Amino acid sequence: MSTAALVLAAGEGTRMKSGLPKVAHPVLGVPMITLVVAAAREAGCDPVVVITGHSADAVEALIPGETCARQDLQLGTGHAVMCGEAALAGYSGSLLVLSGDTPLMRPATLRALVAAREGGGAAMSVLTARVPDPTLGRIVRGADGSVDAIVEAKDATLEQARIDEVNTGTYCFEARTLFEHLHRVRTDNAQGEYYLTDMVAVLRAEGLPVVALTTEDAAEGMGVNTRIQLAEATRVLQRRVNDAHMLAGVTMTDPTLVWVSPTVRIGRDVVLEPMTFLTGDTTVADGATIGPSARVHDSEIGPRARVDSSVLTGVKVGPDATVGPMGFLRPGTRLEARAKTGAFVEVKNSHIGEGSKVPHLSYIGDAEIGSDVNVGAGSITCNYDGRGKHRTVIGDGAFIGSDTMLVAPVTVGERAVTGAGSAIAKDVPPGALGIERTGQRNVEGWADRKAAEDTTDTQGSSTQS
Ligand code: UD1
Ligand code: CA
Repeated sequence: MSTAALVLAAGEGTRMKSGLPKVAHPVLGVPMITLVVAAAREAGCDPVVVITGHSADAVEALIPGETCARQDLQLGTGHAVMCGEAALAGYSGSLLVLSGDTPLMRPATLRALVAAREGGGAAMSVLTARVPDPTLGRIVRGADGSVDAIVEAKDATLEQARIDEVNTGTYCFEARTLFEHLHRVRTDNAQGEYYLTDMVAVLRAEGLPVVALTTEDAAEGMGVNTRIQLAEATRVLQRRVNDAHMLAGVTMTDPTLVWVSPTVRIGRDVVLEPMTFLTGDTTVADGATIGPSARVHDSEIGPRARVDSSVLTGVKVGPDATVGPMGFLRPGTRLEARAKTGAFVEVKNSHIGEGSKVPHLSYIGDAEIGSDVNVGAGSITCNYDGRGKHRTVIGDGAFIGSDTMLVAPVTVGERAVTGAGSAIAKDVPPGALGIERTGQRNVEGWADRKAAEDTTDTQGSSTQS
């Protein structure tokens, strides 16, 4: 039987004190709403309907292609579910209801929650956790252990407030039964809202069974309402992601100082040194070493490559290639096998061929560099003339002398050489030397003459400071 999911994401999240809607805040680089929708999809849910309201456009932009239904006024979690009824018209069977601010839920737990309802012949199952969080709804059980009600912290009696089993805000309902009874939920509570949690009492009053499943991993139920909880959730996800990579053959010298987004794929025998951040659509192949102090976003790092103390975005680094320390590689940069960009080198939108080296203090932009090229220290592509960007082409085996200015558009042919300090504005044919310098003049005896002049200058004058 198929399972549908409804994700509640219309709230503002006032406790975040933010211009960004709460569910748009990222945990390890991924917006919470994206994590929740991904968990629902991984659990096999289809359709998935997301309830948006506060900053709806911004939230919907984070989940392109997903079905969204609007809740224009945020009148509570029960009301939010009412807003999803039309989008789920005709659907019957298990409906998971998830909170967009509970980003650590595992797909396996969601499936277990569905199985608990279906297997128990219940109208509703609720996922609970044993955590001493005083702000969460309390699970009130009857003498026989069955769930009688969920009571919000603000509505709890002193006795109920002492209950340490709490509501994670994650439920599975039989869809038709839910929508048949949802209108029975009232707003006579401390917050004057339609509480979805009241469905427990409503269903029980009808004699319909409600079951609870308690998660063993209390962190799963962690709701993010404040920036402190956002940091805590990030720490939990960091640990979860890093543990999985370490178990799969990745070395992290200090996993508390390595941040890997759940979107990143990493091979075996990869070493991630402290202060490494891997985010976005990034892959790291077997045997590569990244860090210390590296930020790699939307990039592909090849087998055995090394990236030290550098920032890479939208880059492809080939096998055995090396980057850094202190490199800045920007979108469209491709390093072929064994290529090297070294210390204080910035590269943008350029292709650096096999075995070619840009070892020191260079800017390479909009360049096509062949294989086995050496670019001397301090060389720069002058790719921008104030109006447009122009390409520099350097052929295989060329040698760019130190401090060459390559004034684009310009081509340096195969095995050509440029003289150190030259501003190369004209093409250099293959095999030629391109040199652009005024002739050197040596002034004989200059140092001695200068010293004599200095002595004359200071004679007679008193101390100077
Ligand atoms: C809710 C539960 C509480 C549970 C906790 C778990 C209710 C009444 N309370 O409390 O029992 O312990 O979650 O984290 O359900 N939302 C809407 N529209 C609304 C209101 C909320 O879409 O009108 C969304 C929010 O964007 C959020 C989710 O529903 O993603 C939960 O809302 P929130 O206000 O954070 O509820 P809690 O007070 O945390
Ligand atoms: Ca919440």
